[in-house]
Amino acid sequence: MELLCLCSSPNIRGVSCGLAQYLYDRMKAVSQSAALYHTHGLHLSPCKACMRCKNTGICVLDDDLRLILNQFAKADTVILAAPVYAADINVDMKVFLERSHSLIPPNMGPFPSPGNKLEKNLILVLSQGSPPEYHEEIPEKYKQYFRALGVMNQQTVRACNVPSNSDFSPNNYLEEIGVCDRLISVMSQGGREIQ
Ligand SMILES: Cc1cc2nc3c(=O)[nH]c(=O)nc-3n(C[C@H](O)[C@H](O)[C@H](O)COP(=O)(O)O)c2cc1C
Repeated sequence: MELLCLCSSPNIRGVSCGLAQYLYDRMKAVSQSAALYHTHGLHLSPCKACMRCKNTGICVLDDDLRLILNQFAKADTVILAAPVYAADINVDMKVFLERSHSLIPPNMGPFPSPGNKLEKNLILVLSQGSPPEYHEEIPEKYKQYFRALGVMNQQTVRACNVPSNSDFSPNNYLEEIGVCDRLISVMSQGGREIQ
């Protein structure tokens, strides 16, 4: 397993980062290579739509996302962890997804991606202040985009009713840890259990 974990909350002691770290620490044990990044403090530029990546396969922007995108391309297991801000993933994760467009081969369009060689298992960790009935659409709406990146198996861990700027403690999120434990077991065996 080649594992990449990307956390985009500015609160690196917060809940999305904490759950992602929990997943990462355990999945790392069964990975050939593993890397974890926090976007906080990194330099990330949004896509400029120059489309040169469609000739080269590489984004022209030479910032901190270049290495992360390179590792994302090679990873077969990916953890993306984001807080919900303004009813969506926060801006750093959005910038990462914009820039991941450079990995989608030309003429494929964003959706869907038959023949994309980069088959990945992905866990999306989301943390939100509101109750679970809010923002249910977020993991669903990204499913099609992730498919274009070769994600054939997408799972979600959601933490709801999370106060802003709180510290993560596993004891306060036992249900979410239970979901993580189940996904660790599934992903460690190559994914593909539940959709
Ligand atoms: C700028 C900002 C915007 C937010 N917008 C939303 C929102 O639209 N919906 C929501 O449920 N929570 C919202 N929240 C609350 C966060 O999603 C919540 O505190 C989250 O759990 C923080 O995750 P973290 O601990 O991983 O940083 C917002 C928080 C901030 C700081």
